[in-house]
Amino acid sequence: MKEIRVLEKKFRELIPEKEISERIAKLADQINKDFAGKEVVFLGILNGAFLFAADLFKRIDLKARISFVKLASYEGTSSSGSIKELIGWNEDIRNKCIIVVEDIVDTGNTLERIVDELVIRKASGIKIVTLLLKPDAYKKDIPIDYIGFKIPNDFVIGYGLDIDGYARNLPSIYTLIS
Ligand code: IMP
Ligand code: MG
Repeated sequence: MKEIRVLEKKFRELIPEKEISERIAKLADQINKDFAGKEVVFLGILNGAFLFAADLFKRIDLKARISFVKLASYEGTSSSGSIKELIGWNEDIRNKCIIVVEDIVDTGNTLERIVDELVIRKASGIKIVTLLLKPDAYKKDIPIDYIGFKIPNDFVIGYGLDIDGYARNLPSIYTLIS
């Protein structure tokens, strides 16, 4: 069992690189089938989804574009505390079929925030693809159309996912042991 140490914490390999790429190939095949003949815009959510979005997009053979947005949190002046603002929109979303690309859906708060914004911007269709889903943490009703792997409710790193900004470069996904 492959173990590594990052920032004084121990992690064990959960999903090896090869399994990730095989699963991505299957997701891409499915998306290519489902959207055959249609034009879509992939919308990657930074920072975490940058690797997944790139590897998935390479396997897409539709008339497709890709764009990225980022959720920036800052301390608001309201009592509600931190407010998350979506930055980096430069794509005209109106009447476009959007495929949101997430690295991981945990509580679903991020996803909900993004979907709300897409509805306001009048996307004609919204689909979600996520590499990882923590079903025990997910609290929203938004259907997730394409799921790479369902994983337990434990902290994971690698393949885009970080711990305090580190470990995004690991080619496999690792789960926290201690
Ligand atoms: P949500 O809004 O609770 O669904 O969380 C989504 C975001 O939290 C993801 O896009 C990640 O950036 C981060 N996140 C959630 N779980 C993990 C994890 O296990 N490892 C690293 N980041 C995570
Ligand atoms: Mg993320």
